Amino acid sequence: MTFVQFSEELHLGHAVIDAQHASLFDTVNQLHDDMLAGNSRQQLARVLAFLRSYTVEHFATEEAFMAETGYPGMALHKAQHDDLVRQVQELEEKHTAGSLTLSITVMVFLRDWLAQHISVDDRKLAQHLEAR
Ligand SMILES: [Fe+2]
Ligand SMILES: [Fe+2]
Repeated sequence: MTFVQFSEELHLGHAVIDAQHASLFDTVNQLHDDMLAGNSRQQLARVLAFLRSYTVEHFATEEAFMAETGYPGMALHKAQHDDLVRQVQELEEKHTAGSLTLSITVMVFLRDWLAQHISVDDRKLAQHLEAR
């Protein structure tokens, strides 16, 4: 079941960034499906770990583009990235410790964060990269 749709308006016209966003959405959908299916904590832990590492990789990619092109909004954009990484790390730690059960609230948080960040902040970055 598609929980987050990588809809047309979230495509930014930058091949690398769009492909990574599509993979991020796939991972969030995987997590959602595993949660709904009641799959094991180990399986959820694997997907959460992948989500964390892929998020870190994706953000590093965008930050490299920003650094290469002297993007003026880099500090603010990177602060948002750091904030999400911290939150995903916290989710993962709590999940590992057994003090967090993945819920629709967690999934909605991830979905809304990504949709908001992509449609506002990543869009500005994509426009900057395209204008160069
Ligand atoms: Fe970003
Ligand atoms: Fe992004």
